[in-house]
Amino acid sequence: MKVLSAEFVLSAKEPVHYPPAGLPEIAFAGRSNVGKSSLINTLLKRKGLARTSNTPGRTQEINFFSVNNRMYFIDLPGYGYAKVPEKMRKNWGPMIETYLSQRQTLRLVVLILDVRRDPSEEDRQLIGWLQFYRLPFFIVLTKIDKVSWNQLGLRQRQIGGGLGLSSATPLISFSAKTGEGKDLLWREISKAVAPV
Ligand code: GTP
Ligand code: MG
Repeated sequence: MKVLSAEFVLSAKEPVHYPPAGLPEIAFAGRSNVGKSSLINTLLKRKGLARTSNTPGRTQEINFFSVNNRMYFIDLPGYGYAKVPEKMRKNWGPMIETYLSQRQTLRLVVLILDVRRDPSEEDRQLIGWLQFYRLPFFIVLTKIDKVSWNQLGLRQRQIGGGLGLSSATPLISFSAKTGEGKDLLWREISKAVAPV
């Protein structure tokens, strides 16, 4: 997909503050520091659009980006970082679950996992919600520039097998550093936003 325009719209914690639902939405979820914001920037070819950081817990609200005035990209706050204030950690669950369960225009959730780490309890909880609410999703294994080809194959099998996902749930390998996986990801996103 050619990205003609990409803009930050707003940050929100609750549905009353979300932008009006109209455009199809693609949400990006994953633990803190996994590389959600970097992946969004890579897809949109805008380096600083979604704020990235070495400090986990950078993104603390639900961020809406308008892409080509045709869809929204949603940068969800990360989870699983112990140093995030207690209040913020408690809010995370309801904030994300409310968005996932109530947003009628949500078309696809991209769950991002670090290729080097085993999925956490929160990753599994999120997959549980996605299955419960019957939301289409797929998994991206990111930071693949940090592992060898051999390790990548092994990790794909370990992570895919460990989560017990059906073969209908694709596992896409990605690197924000090299751009690998970007085209495949766009293809899946385009399918999800195409009119039915
Ligand atoms: P929170 O907003 O805190 O939840 O983090 P996030 O998931 O948005 O992560 P972010 O994109 O801010 O990236 C965290 C760190 O990982 C940054 O230092 C990025 O440069 C780095 N990073 C992200 N993606 C990749 C990747 O594919 N390869 C490598 N080598 N580093 C990456
Ligand atoms: Mg972020």
